[in-house]
Parts: sequence; C-alpha cells; structure tokens
Amino acid sequence: MTKVLEISHLNKTFGKFQALSDVSFTVNQGQVFGFLGPNGAGKTTTIRSVLGLLKRDSGTIKLMGEDATGNVLDTHRHIAYVPGDVYLWPNLTGGETIDLLLRMGGHARTKRVDDLIKLFELDPRKKNRTYSKGNRQKVALIAAFSANVDLYIFDEPTSGLDPLQARNFQDQILALKQAGKTVLLSSHILSEVEKVVDCVAVIRQGQIVEVGSLTDLQEHAALRINAQVQDWTPFQDYPKFHQELNGEISFTVARALLPKTMTALVTAGVTDLKVTPPTLEDLFMQYYDTGAVAHES
Ligand SMILES: Nc1ncnc2c1ncn2[C@@H]1O[C@H](COP(=O)(O)OP(=O)(O)OP(=O)(O)O)[C@@H](O)[C@H]1O
Ligand SMILES: [Mg+2]
Repeated sequence: MTKVLEISHLNKTFGKFQALSDVSFTVNQGQVFGFLGPNGAGKTTTIRSVLGLLKRDSGTIKLMGEDATGNVLDTHRHIAYVPGDVYLWPNLTGGETIDLLLRMGGHARTKRVDDLIKLFELDPRKKNRTYSKGNRQKVALIAAFSANVDLYIFDEPTSGLDPLQARNFQDQILALKQAGKTVLLSSHILSEVEKVVDCVAVIRQGQIVEVGSLTDLQEHAALRINAQVQDWTPFQDYPKFHQELNGEISFTVARALLPKTMTALVTAGVTDLKVTPPTLEDLFMQYYDTGAVAHES
C-alpha cells in the first residue's frame, strides 16, 4: 500500500504551549481519512505543518515517501488544500480566482471547472470581496476539486456551506474516492464525515487518542450492560455505574472484560440482561468531554 502522507512524532509548541505532542498517523493511497477533534485540538496546526505554513519543532512529515518539509513548493504541487477560513484576492472575480489557483498549482483548466461551478451554484462573475463566507469557500473548493493531485486536504470544509452544498461536497469526496484519490478531511462533526471516511484519527489536546476504521473504534469501545441482579454490590465500582428505582443496574465494561463480568453476573443471580455497543455518536462525545477517557476498563 502506498503511503501518501506519513506523519511521525510531530511536535509543535507556540511559546510555552504544546500544541502538538508526538502526533503520528499515516494516510494511504485511496483512503478518505477523517481527522476529528474538538476546537483547539490541533487539527489546523497539524495541517499547516504538513503544508510548510508552520515550522515544526520535531518529527517527520513525508509526502509520497519524501520529506515534505524539504521543498515546500514541491509539496504544494502534490496537494490541493482548502482552509477553514478562505481569504481571496478581493478584486478578482471568483472565476478568475479559480483559474489563478489552478495555474499556480500547475494544473490545467478543464471542463470540470464549469461543471463544478454549475453544481455548487456559484456565480463566477462576482468579485471576491462581494462573496459570502460560503461562496468564498465554494471558489476554493471548486479549484481544489478541479486539480489532479496526490492528496486533497480539506480543513472544516463544510463550515460555511448550506445542507444542499454540504451534500454536493460529500458527493465530490465520494467521486474522488471512486477515482482512487486520497483525501484528508478535518472536522469537528462525526456525522459530517461518517458517510465518506474509511479511517479516522481523533486528536485531543494535541495528542492522537485514536486511529482506526469506524468499525474498529466501535468494536474496541466499552459496552453498556443493563441487568437485573439479586446482588448489585460486585458491580458498583464499574465505570458509569447506575442503579434505577426498579433495581435495574447499568454500567460499562471493556469488551476484554466481558467474560469475567458474565461470570460475576451469574454469581450475582442475574435475571435479565441487555448488552449494547455504543453508538458512534456516544463514542465521539467521550473525546469532546474534557476529563473523560475513551477506553474504560
Ligand atoms: N499561531 C498560534 N499562536 C499561538 N497559539 C496557537 C497558534 N495557532 C494555534 N494555536 C493554539 O494551538 C491549539 C491548536 O489550534 P488548532 O487551530 O490547531 O486547533 P483545531 O483543532 O484546528 O481547532 P478548530 O476545530 O477550532 O479549528 C489551540 O490551543 C490554539 O489556540
Ligand atoms: Mg482548525
């Protein structure tokens, strides 16, 4: 499998503040890779380090097997990038900007540009300074989707788009995926990327806390147990233990501890039992809740 982007032990500080601590993950050819995490977690800092817009303190960043930080101009030729806040030359029109962005990246202007302008319902004749946030974002997205590159990076791409345009964006990601292209997609919102990503990395306070496919993450997550037992005392130390008024108890347990827990339930005289895996939404909420841990035992 070709490694398109390989980040290893990346560290970045701003003064005394450690924005990234030992960040490592790999994006393989053909993958749509979700980069998720709460506000201020370090997503943009990681992306800007990849693009050479920020200087890392230590660690390595490889693009197509080569050091990405060596020749930044070369790096940019391999990448199409759309930032979260799009700033454009105020006096150019949207159409002129798309052409300029493509030319700067060394990409040919194809019919695809016109198709995308139509799809995203952009009026390309207006000056950039007159565009709304969403329309500025569309200009940058159309240029990125029209480029033929090794890696597409989108930082919070749908933050300014209405639901219909956000759907168009997702369709374009799926089209890139079908064409075997590689995408890094940063977002706060799981539901926004859930339908298109193969794999995710979750970053929290500058550290990667999870990497894997969504199914893997769900399989590794703690299970919720609801049970009726005669003696609840053996379970009171389990994470998230609750006792309902009707005597039903509930708690969470790591999958690995399930056999031991089942034996304990039998000994405690279990009369009713329900085991549920967490929804992906529940799983991700744990990462956003400061002080909570992802894996409970
Ligand atoms: N130029 C800078 N100087 C000082 N601190 C910075 C700078 N850029 C980012 N930071 C800090 O680094 C941390 C990570 O910021 P970053 O923008 O990477 O987060 P993010 O995950 O992209 O968040 P969001 O989802 O809000 O976009 C934050 O605490 C932020 O305040
Ligand atoms: Mg950001």
